[in-house]
Amino acid sequence: MQKSTFFVCCAALAIGAVPAFAADDKGDAAKGKEVFEQCSVCHNSDSTEKKMGPGLKGLFQKDKMANGKAPTEANVRAKINEGGNGMPAYTEMLNDTEKTDLIAYLKTL
Ligand code: HEC
Repeated sequence: MQKSTFFVCCAALAIGAVPAFAADDKGDAAKGKEVFEQCSVCHNSDSTEKKMGPGLKGLFQKDKMANGKAPTEANVRAKINEGGNGMPAYTEMLNDTEKTDLIAYLKTL
């Protein structure tokens, strides 16, 4: 006598979609920190000490960046997009949300 039992496992569908609660404008610093992992090969986040590029601690408190521009959101975004002087251009490597999150994170440094 054989008895076969079926366990119907139904409720375990992973609901992976986290609601995208309007991160558009301000960005999500926690997510930005994850994005920053690919920047941290060249940039310190906990000091201003130079790695490949300048350390980014206190970036937004600086008078100006190496290119002479004030570290406003727009200028930092432009630097990320354009790169230059040894920094890769991220225009196509990161999407807008990732860049906004990244900037939110950089502001916390
Ligand atoms: C391959 C190394 C490399 C990577 C990866 C890299 N950078 Fe850079 N970055 C540099 C270098 C070198 C400079 C200095 C360029 C200059 O003097 O104009 C720089 C400059 C900058 C500046 C301007 C800082 C200042 O004070 O002038 C910012 C902001 C910046 N990077 C952000 C980022 C972010 C955000 C990422 C990740 C998306 C990133 N970088 C990835 C090498 C890198």
